[in-house]
Amino acid sequence: MDRAQQVWEALAPSSDSCRESEQILSKKGSLAVVTEPERAPGIGFQRIADVSELEPYGQFSKWVDDHDILVFRQDGEIKALSNICPHFGGPVGYHQMKEGVFTCLWHNYRFEASTGRCLTNEHLCLRSYKIKVEDGGIWVQLVENPGT
Ligand code: FES
Repeated sequence: MDRAQQVWEALAPSSDSCRESEQILSKKGSLAVVTEPERAPGIGFQRIADVSELEPYGQFSKWVDDHDILVFRQDGEIKALSNICPHFGGPVGYHQMKEGVFTCLWHNYRFEASTGRCLTNEHLCLRSYKIKVEDGGIWVQLVENPGT
């Protein structure tokens, strides 16, 4: 079990209590490991990882600035979604993607990997990030409309 898994296990709620989840979210914020991004000038993308970090599981999550990003490979394409569940903030990418679906650790809400759409609650959706693969790295556009 790696450090990220240990942190998420420690933070997992023991019940569905909203109050408890809010306390856990604030604990999570103080434990977040933030990576200093490498910035590409003028194009709004930041290098967040080497492509090799996708091995061996085909997915990983990483905090960059205020974003917890779930990066994964699907049908040979690298994609990125928010790793923060819109239900109560659980880790969407804790488990391995199965048949194109991520299942949140905390209450098992299911999300379609290709779109971020929640299959459990139609009113919820994960943010998707634009991705660029260059120089052996994965670059993510954190700001949705850079330059505007
Ligand atoms: S936090 Fe409840 S399903 Fe993700």
